[in-house]
Amino acid sequence: MARKLAAGNWKMNGNRADLDQVTALAAAHRDPGVDISLCLPATLISEAATQLANSPIIIGAQDCHSAQSGAHTGDIAAQQLSDAGARDVILGHSERRIDHDEKDALIRSKLIAACKAGLRPILCVGESLAERDSNQTLERIGTQIDGALESRDSLPCGLVIAYEPIWAIGTGRTPSLEQIGEVHDFMRDKLGARYGDEDADSVPLLYGGSVKPGNAADIFAVSNVDGALVGGASLKEADFSPIITALSMS
Ligand code: PGA
Repeated sequence: MARKLAAGNWKMNGNRADLDQVTALAAAHRDPGVDISLCLPATLISEAATQLANSPIIIGAQDCHSAQSGAHTGDIAAQQLSDAGARDVILGHSERRIDHDEKDALIRSKLIAACKAGLRPILCVGESLAERDSNQTLERIGTQIDGALESRDSLPCGLVIAYEPIWAIGTGRTPSLEQIGEVHDFMRDKLGARYGDEDADSVPLLYGGSVKPGNAADIFAVSNVDGALVGGASLKEADFSPIITALSMS
C-alpha cells in the first residue's frame, strides 16, 4: 500500500511573515497519521525547515535544475535544495511545462538529479482541456509518465506522481470522481506494467487541481487516490488542515 500524502504547493506565494501558517500547521498535526509535505518557494525553505525540525511535516521545493552545479544563473540545484532542508521536490508541474517550455526529457533529467541528491520527486502529469475533450487524456498521461521515467528496471527513489488536469488548476473546476478514478487506475496499471505490482502499489498517486476542504473527502474515497497536491488551499492552515484530516480519515 502507498503511504498517504497531503502535499501543499505554495507556488510563487509567501514571504517570511507567512511562515506563521507553517508553524500553525505543525502545531495542528503533531501526529498526523499521514505524510504532510509543504513545497515552498526556495526563499522560505531553509527557515521553514529550521522551524519544523521537530515536526513530521516535510519541507519541499517546486523545481530543481538537472545539473549538479555550474553556470546556470538563477537556477537551483537539487543538492542545494537538500542542503537548505528540502526533502521533496515537485517536478514537471504544468505551470513550469507552460511558463518554461519544459519537455519530458528535461523533466527526466531533473528527476535523476533529484534522486541523486536524495530528494523525493513529486512528478506532475495532466492533460489540457483540448486533450480531455478529444479523448486524449490517457494517452497524454502515459506519454508524460514514460517520458519522465528513465529506466524500466527500477522505480525511481520514493517516486510520487500527481495527476493534475491543467484545466482544474486554480479554476475551481474538478473532473468527476469517475474521471479521476479512470486516470488513477490507468497510472497504477502503467506503473505495474513497468515495475511489477508490488512496486507500483507503493507509489503514492495524488490528485491535484482545485482540491478544497469541501471536496477532499469525496476525492480521497476514489480508488487509487492516495492523497492530494494542493495549491491555493495549502496557503492557509485553516484550509489545508481539514484536507489533511479528511485524508487521515479516508
Ligand atoms: P490548486 O493548484 O489547488 O490551486 O488548483 C494545484 C496545483 O497546481 O498543484
